[in-house]
Amino acid sequence: MGDSKHRISPLEINKDDFRKIGYRLIDVISDFYDTISEKPVTSAETPKQIQAVLGNASLPEDGASVSELFDKATDLLLNHSLFNGHPKFFGYITSSPTPIGALADLLAAAINPNVGANILSPMATAIEKQTVKWLAEFIGVSPAYGGILVSGGNMANLTGFLVARTAKAPKGMKENGLANASAEMVFYCSKATHTWIDKAAVLFGHGSKAIRWIPTDADNKMNTQILLSTITNDLREGKKPFLVIGNAGDVSTGAVDDLSEIAAICKAHDLWFHIDGAYGVPAAAIPQEKILFNGIQEADSIAIDPHKWLYAPLEAGCTLVKNPRRMIDTYSAHPVYYNFDSSVDEPVINYYEYGLQNSRGFRALKVWMALQQVGRNGYIKMITEDISLSRLLFEKVQKHSELEAVTQNLSITTFRYVPLTCSQDDQTDENFLNTLNEKLLNQLQHGSELFLSNAVVAGKYCLRACIVNFRTSKKDIQEIVEIVVREGRKVYEQVHVK
Ligand SMILES: Cc1ncc(COP(=O)(O)O)c(C=O)c1O
Repeated sequence: MGDSKHRISPLEINKDDFRKIGYRLIDVISDFYDTISEKPVTSAETPKQIQAVLGNASLPEDGASVSELFDKATDLLLNHSLFNGHPKFFGYITSSPTPIGALADLLAAAINPNVGANILSPMATAIEKQTVKWLAEFIGVSPAYGGILVSGGNMANLTGFLVARTAKAPKGMKENGLANASAEMVFYCSKATHTWIDKAAVLFGHGSKAIRWIPTDADNKMNTQILLSTITNDLREGKKPFLVIGNAGDVSTGAVDDLSEIAAICKAHDLWFHIDGAYGVPAAAIPQEKILFNGIQEADSIAIDPHKWLYAPLEAGCTLVKNPRRMIDTYSAHPVYYNFDSSVDEPVINYYEYGLQNSRGFRALKVWMALQQVGRNGYIKMITEDISLSRLLFEKVQKHSELEAVTQNLSITTFRYVPLTCSQDDQTDENFLNTLNEKLLNQLQHGSELFLSNAVVAGKYCLRACIVNFRTSKKDIQEIVEIVVREGRKVYEQVHVK
């Protein structure tokens, strides 16, 4: 226990050790960043191989040396991971993480403010508030939007969904629940919408039948004529439409819906307009792309993910709401054990009233610091370059006789491998090409040279490269083409011979 003044705690690390171990860790991480492009994108080991490396020890009864633990943890992670910071990582929508974000997370963890209430995190709350305002300014909506940092796109959209429902629900919904609503509440999104909407339907008690999946046109954007006729039909049948979701960069192809048309439909029918911009909305800051996002200022709520196209280390999503009072209406409660109320003279933000969490970590710091490290112009430069690289990939694919370019929007390109024998044949068997490209994707993902994901576009199984990666260069783009064609030929040989 120590003497009466100093308690000896097994978790404490003395100052000298902390400094020594910390410096060594920083050295290891700096080397990692410096050499990341020379490493394989992924160790591509099977779960069994990973388990064998990790071992199967049971919970230790006693402690171990911190320095040795770090040696072990860095060895495990540096040699058996997938690196989304690698210049050839293009999978899903996970960005290269900012180095400043890694340092910011260390600082945030050391201070450990609980950003659920202002009194528990005075400076962190102010920094989060400023971060939210800067995100709104960056994408070109009013800085009067309020909001909250959350774990990612699912949570950002779910958080907005519940605010929408509370705002548009019949009176007494909070007390009486859905069961007492006189009409079935329904909501609208395009078929290209991310699966968070399925979770929302289940989690908030509507059921998946309340989702109106509006078809998309050939460009993967919501067909707004069908949106309108579906709303009209629901009203005729006595349903209660309350929300329309527009995509600003759909997860598969990056298509941006006609936001101003959706906004007009929402206005005409008194519906909440939510934009899922988890991936694509940072492109609204790019002068040449702005036009795609016309109507964004009309949104009642917007999801934006700093851990996607603002390159924050996981996790960082954000919900922006035009009238932040709506968030408090949805999420606030005043249990007797909280002494967090703000005074009339000096109102404060207590973030537990803005979302689903009460105790909250300091996610905003890494976003706030990166926004200042490079400023608006630094972000415009990186996002513009990602878009140009994606277009370059599309052009290179178009020019290659064994590749078919399928879509290009924002920084997402979809394409597929088509063997010469197939492209010469009018009767190309789509099933064969789908199987071939699926096998090719699996081979590429286990090959460690690059990491792509997939999209199914108009029935075609495509390879998909999403560039939210400030390390990717033109050389990497050329190499994608070479690697895909080389591996495509191999897979074709295997499939063909069988
Ligand atoms: C448009 C869109 N919305 C929501 C999400 C979900 O984001 P997260 O995986 O951060 O929860 C994604 C993920 O890719 C997305 O692209």
